[in-house]
This record gives sequence, C-alpha cells and structure tokens, in this order.
Amino acid sequence: MRDDVWTLVRFIHVLGAATWVGGMIALGAVAVPAARSAGDRTAGRQVLTSAARRFGVLGALAWVVILVSGFGLLHHRNLGLGDLTASDYGRRVLAKLCLLLAMGVVTALHALWQGPRARRLEEAGDLAGARRWKLLGAGFDSFLLLASLATLWLAVSLVP
Ligand code: HEM
Repeated sequence: MRDDVWTLVRFIHVLGAATWVGGMIALGAVAVPAARSAGDRTAGRQVLTSAARRFGVLGALAWVVILVSGFGLLHHRNLGLGDLTASDYGRRVLAKLCLLLAMGVVTALHALWQGPRARRLEEAGDLAGARRWKLLGAGFDSFLLLASLATLWLAVSLVP
C-alpha cells in the first residue's frame, strides 16, 4: 500500500515534468511557427501571447507540483538537502533542483519584465528598441528549452 503511494507521487512528478517540458516544446515547435505563418503580424503576436499566458498558468502549476513531489521523492529515498552532494544520484537531483529554480526565475523575468517592455516599446512605435528586448526574450526562450531538456536528461539518468 505504501509503495502505491510513492508510485502515485512519482506519477505526479513525471506528469508535472511532462507538462513542463511538453509545454516548452509545444510553444516553441507549434505555437511560434503557427503564429509566424498567420500573415498578419499583430494577430500572430496576439495568438502567441494568449497561448503563452494560458501555458503560464499550467506551467506555474506544473513547476510547483514538480518541486513539491520532487522533495517528497527525496524524502522517500531518505535524502535531505544536505546529503545531495554526497552521491552521484544526489548531485544529479541537486542539478535538477538548481535548473528548476533558474527556470522559474527566467520565466518570471520573461513574463513580468522583458515581455511587457518589448510590447510597450513596439506599441509606442520604437521598433529598434523592441527588437533588442525581443532578442533578450529569444535568449530566455532558448535557455528555457535547453534547461528543460537538460533536466529531463538528468532525470532519466538518475539510476543507471
Ligand atoms: C523540470 C524539472 C524536473 C524534471 C523534468 C524531472 C523529471 C523526473 C523524471 C522523468 C523522473 C523519473 C526518473 C526515473 O524514474 O527513471 C524523476 C525522478 C525523480 N525526481 Fe525529478 N524532475 C525534475 C525536478 C526535480 C526536482 C526539483 C527534484 C527535487 C527537489 C526532483 C527529484 C526527483 C527524485 C528524487 C526522483 C527519483 C525518484 C526515485 O528514485 O524513485 N526532481 N524526475
């Protein structure tokens, strides 16, 4: 019975991970090209912003679920934060934790600072300024995609 509970926690953890990583891939590989092919730039941008906002809610939920269930799984393995540097398994989990925290910070900067700034400049007609801020946004997006894939790689190589 207790094993079933931990299987459920692992299931929830992997569901959160699938939602997070799958969402990143879907936004990058599906929503961005679809918005770009819309022809009308303004309409395309609106669709993309709306898709990103909707994923933002689901992604934030997945982020919290991954973190909470991840600490649950660590507890199940009798590991605390202080033990994580002592084994290869622990160091991989620590790397996942650092990447997840960094992804949270970058997503918040993207949604609350860089994105609104780029939009405001574009609406004010400062296209050169908007382009610079959008370049930073593309950097954030690339980091998020690569960090998501790196975390998944670390996760699947936890146990040889
Ligand atoms: C985006 C970030 C993360 C992703 C994509 C992710 C993904 C996964 C996946 C797919 C597994 C299953 C691996 C397997 O059974 O072979 C797993 C296991 C695990 N994850 Fe994560 N994870 C993430 C973040 C975290 C964090 C932040 C923690 C700790 C606070 C954590 C702790 C664990 C532990 C301890 C296990 C192993 C469970 C066990 O040994 O039974 N994960 N993770």
